[in-house]
Amino acid sequence: MTNADQKKQAVARAAIEYVEYDDIVGVGTGSTVDFFIEYLKPIKNKISGAIASSISTKEKLEAIGVRVLDLNDVSDIPIYIDGADEVNPNFQLIKGGGGALTREKIIAGASKKFLCIVDNSKLVDVLGKFPLPLEVVPMARSFVSREIIKIQGMPAWRENFVTDNGNIILDVNHMEIMEPIKLEKDLNQISGVLTVGLFAARPADKVLVSNEKDVIELKKK
Ligand code: 5RP
Repeated sequence: MTNADQKKQAVARAAIEYVEYDDIVGVGTGSTVDFFIEYLKPIKNKISGAIASSISTKEKLEAIGVRVLDLNDVSDIPIYIDGADEVNPNFQLIKGGGGALTREKIIAGASKKFLCIVDNSKLVDVLGKFPLPLEVVPMARSFVSREIIKIQGMPAWRENFVTDNGNIILDVNHMEIMEPIKLEKDLNQISGVLTVGLFAARPADKVLVSNEKDVIELKKK
C-alpha cells in the first residue's frame, strides 16, 4: 500500500468513532470513503442504514450488508462522512474529483453534521489549484465553457465520463478562489450548470486530517 493510501486508511478508521448507535449515515464517494466502508463492515448492525452519494458507493455498502435508504424516505441524517479534493482553513471544499458532486452536495445539505476526512495533502490556504469540477447538462457544454472563459477560468471536458445523473463534467483550471461563497453563487447562476464542486455556502462542520504519524481534528482558523 502506498503512503497516500496509508494516510487515507488511517483517517477513515478514525471516522468510525464519530458514528453513533442507530445513526443513519450519509456516505460519500472516493478512495478515502472506500476505506471507511471497509471499517463500517464490523459495525454495520450498529447503524440503522446509510444514504449513498453514488451508485458505486451504494454497491459497496450493499456488498457488506448495509441497508441503503432512499433520501426521500429519510428526514434525519445525523452525519455525512466524505472526502474532498481540497480543504481551506474555513473548512470550505473543492469536491467532485470522482464526479459524484451533485449527490454529495445534496446529502451534505440534508445532513446535520458533515465530517470531512482527508489526508494532509488536501489542505490548502486558497482553493483552486485542484481543477474545480462542474456538473453540466450535456447540451450546455459549449455555452457553459464560454461563460467560464469570460471569468478567466480554463474549462476542460472530462472526456469519456458520464455522471450518475447522465451529465458531463467540466473541470475548471486556473482559478484562484478568493471568495468561495460568491464564486459558488455566480457559477450556480449559469444555465446548464447543475452543480458546482465548491462546498462553500455549506462547508464541512468537522475535518479529520491524517499525516504520516497520526490523525487530528482540524481547528478552524
Ligand atoms: C468524489 C469526491 C471525493 O471526495 C474526492 O474526489 C476525494 O477523493 P479521494 O478520497 O479518492 O481522494 O468529491 O466526487
